[in-house]
Amino acid sequence: MNNHDGFLCLFGATGDLAGNKILPALLQWREAGMPLKRIWCLGRRPLDTAGYLAFIEDKGSIRLDPWLRERIEYHRLEFNEGEGYRALARRIHERGFSRDTQRLFFLAVKPEAFVSIAHQLHAAELVIPGHPSHRLMLEKPFGDSLKSADAIQQQLMHLLTEEQLFRIDHYLGKEMIRNILTIRFANRLFSESWHGGAIDRVEVTSIETAGVEERLEYYDQAGAINDMVQSHLLQMVALVAMAAPENFDPDSIRTAKIDTLNHLRIDPQDRQVVGQYAGYREQRPESTTETAVEAVLRVDTPQWAGTRFILRTGKKLVEKRTEIRLYYRPTQLCVSCAETVQAQANQLVIEVFPSEGVQLQFNSKTPGYEYDTEQVVAEYCHSCRMIGNKPEAYVKLLKDAWEGDKTLFAGFAELQAQWRIADAIRAACRKGGLVIYPPGAPTVLQANSQHEPPTMPVA
Ligand code: BG6
Repeated sequence: MNNHDGFLCLFGATGDLAGNKILPALLQWREAGMPLKRIWCLGRRPLDTAGYLAFIEDKGSIRLDPWLRERIEYHRLEFNEGEGYRALARRIHERGFSRDTQRLFFLAVKPEAFVSIAHQLHAAELVIPGHPSHRLMLEKPFGDSLKSADAIQQQLMHLLTEEQLFRIDHYLGKEMIRNILTIRFANRLFSESWHGGAIDRVEVTSIETAGVEERLEYYDQAGAINDMVQSHLLQMVALVAMAAPENFDPDSIRTAKIDTLNHLRIDPQDRQVVGQYAGYREQRPESTTETAVEAVLRVDTPQWAGTRFILRTGKKLVEKRTEIRLYYRPTQLCVSCAETVQAQANQLVIEVFPSEGVQLQFNSKTPGYEYDTEQVVAEYCHSCRMIGNKPEAYVKLLKDAWEGDKTLFAGFAELQAQWRIADAIRAACRKGGLVIYPPGAPTVLQANSQHEPPTMPVA
């Protein structure tokens, strides 16, 4: 075995995330030269390896190829019982891996389990504190509030070092999210007008048609604010609103993002709305968990004076779409000066899903003899330029964690700033009650545009 060969241990291997995202990412990574010699899939279900492979394929989201099947072994353990970890350590040893073999532990489990898993890995000497090749990848959310995130971090720091932790926000691995800084800072066209004087509002949207489905247990505790806003949406806001970093190295970018996150505020005059789709309570009676949010934030810096940042996410809405849309302030137009026309406001759209690209809406003269003005669209299709498999977010993140590159992983100070604002959004939203919206509504706010939608007090 050479120095770069190693293994992955996947906690939560029978869960949705493993079947829908992580194993497909391993399949794609395998095509790009994945160095893993063994993949231990860990779970509580009493299965053997053949049973696990059948279980995963029966779920229907993946067909494993022979190469990957050969590498996967299932190992049963209870997350908080030492014997399962000691048995795993023996199996790893029997397969010829040494103490210094490179290893990655992917925790696709609830945050409540992070500390006990890290504790057991430490006790079984599967993870040695400070060892540069022993790393943990932690799925989001990291806690459920600033307070719980602080508590988790404090306990983890007794067992390993910050360098060994890779906290995932899979949106940071998406192509168009990684493109935001290039679009902003490599184009004078955009960088010169990237401020509140020119931009009226920024809408950050990530909505979907799917409901909670099999993730009810997790989701009912988390809700849309902790599931989406605290991580993905606030990261998008930070990338759009941050000032130019001193350099484009990971630390300078992180510092600029943290500074922006620390300047996010809720203005009492803006309405914060949470909603729940009709039918949710058939699965979980009496629940007041929000499945959609519309939050309005301000960035309290001179650059962003007067601009609203509207964050919108929700389940069972009209479509699956993720985008960042900048609405510029309209401009007065006087071509012949016989009359002044209000030209339509420009829009710049960074499209993340279903299209990946950029759309710019601007005004042009209508073709013909007259001087009429109309809005036209220039489009750049980013995904059209990718040859072969397009890089999936989880593949990029797995590769980076394997190589020890932390650029796309949230540092703890960044996470604290995100929790601070998520906690404030949660508190502000609770004051307004819960809108019950019909599945397929365009947004939680427009659930019923004729009348004020029905609301329920939030517990
Ligand atoms: C996950 C959330 O982080 O992101 C899910 O837990 C959500 O609830 C998903 O559906 C959306 O991700 P994507 O990549 O499909 O936009």
